[in-house]
Amino acid sequence: MKPTSWILAFLVLTVITVIALTLSGVRPQPDLATTRLQAPDVLAERGRYLADIAGCRNCHSDLQNPEAAFAGGRMFETRFGTYYSPNITPDEKTGIGRWKKEEFMVALQYGVSPKGSHYYPVFPYASLSSMRNEDLLAIYEFMKTVPPVNRKSRENGRALFVWRNAVQLWKRLAFTRRIIEPDPLRTAAWNRGRYLADAVMHCGECHTPRNFIGVMDNKRYLAGDDSRMVMNRAVPDITQNKISGIGYWSDQHLLRYFRSGLRPDGSTSRNELAGVAYHTMNHLTDDDARALIVYLKSVPPSR
Ligand code: HEC
Ligand code: HEC
Repeated sequence: MKPTSWILAFLVLTVITVIALTLSGVRPQPDLATTRLQAPDVLAERGRYLADIAGCRNCHSDLQNPEAAFAGGRMFETRFGTYYSPNITPDEKTGIGRWKKEEFMVALQYGVSPKGSHYYPVFPYASLSSMRNEDLLAIYEFMKTVPPVNRKSRENGRALFVWRNAVQLWKRLAFTRRIIEPDPLRTAAWNRGRYLADAVMHCGECHTPRNFIGVMDNKRYLAGDDSRMVMNRAVPDITQNKISGIGYWSDQHLLRYFRSGLRPDGSTSRNELAGVAYHTMNHLTDDDARALIVYLKSVPPSR
């Protein structure tokens, strides 16, 4: 960069920092309200399933070192730089072993760390924050049962603390924790499918196009994203559009794709980064897979 560009970048960052520091101060409070109280072991069993389908296992495990589940180190290349997932095993020194339930909830519901700093949205809390409290608590209980791994997490983003403050600013513009209320006019399967798609499995994080500041454009919900902000590749349209989307896929086609990554024409996306999705969808129970299909079939075609 030319010296003038450096000065400009410095000024912009200073302004961002000043604004961000002005905004800061209020720590979000965890939302722990839940209607279903269950024993920790029952919760943990449910949490195991949720951690699989929500991608916690997949994103937080280094694919090159599969025995160290949840110990972090997986790399994500995005247009905003390269990020690594942290260790979320219950190791007390390098993982989240000392985290209280409240701290875990604030991380997932608001994208804020126990120290009060802001997570990069590559950790898809924009969607995961819509998960029901009891589901997040189930994952919390499950995480305590995972074997602890001593492995230091890599610090993300340039060392400058300003970047995390810039995230805070971004969150002001782009993030609200959305609660998904069931639609009484739809079937239980449809409602379950929507909850899976929008909260737990966060399909829109990759499949919904983003505007220039990286906010999902829900007017073009699931219509495919070629901004390359999230992945270093284009992500296809999965609306019911018969040409650009998956409108011609039958229920059987979808089920086969979830189970094997095979498309109707026999090609596969298994070994792609799409594996992020594939490694989660193949864990779906039959009922949940059916619910997700019912919901996807109801998504209006993109225009
Ligand atoms: C798409 C990949 C992805 C998915 C899916 C994902 N995470 Fe993460 N997670 C990350 C990344 C990357 C970070 C680091 C963010 C940062 O440094 O700002 C992170 C950060 C975290 C942290 C903060 C850890 C720390 O040391 O501060 C926790 C806790 C966490 N994730 C738990 C979960 C849980 C639980 C799930 C499943 C419900 C999940 N994540 C799903 C990628 C992911
Ligand atoms: C982490 C990003 C990511 C998430 C989350 C994600 N997908 Fe995908 N998905 C992809 C990418 C990338 C491809 C393209 C794969 C390829 O071409 O090899 C893809 C492909 C697909 C396809 C095949 C489309 C076609 O035309 O070939 C379907 C169907 C699909 N995804 C459904 C879903 C559903 C349903 C969800 C949520 C349950 C989901 N995806 C979540 C990234 C993602």
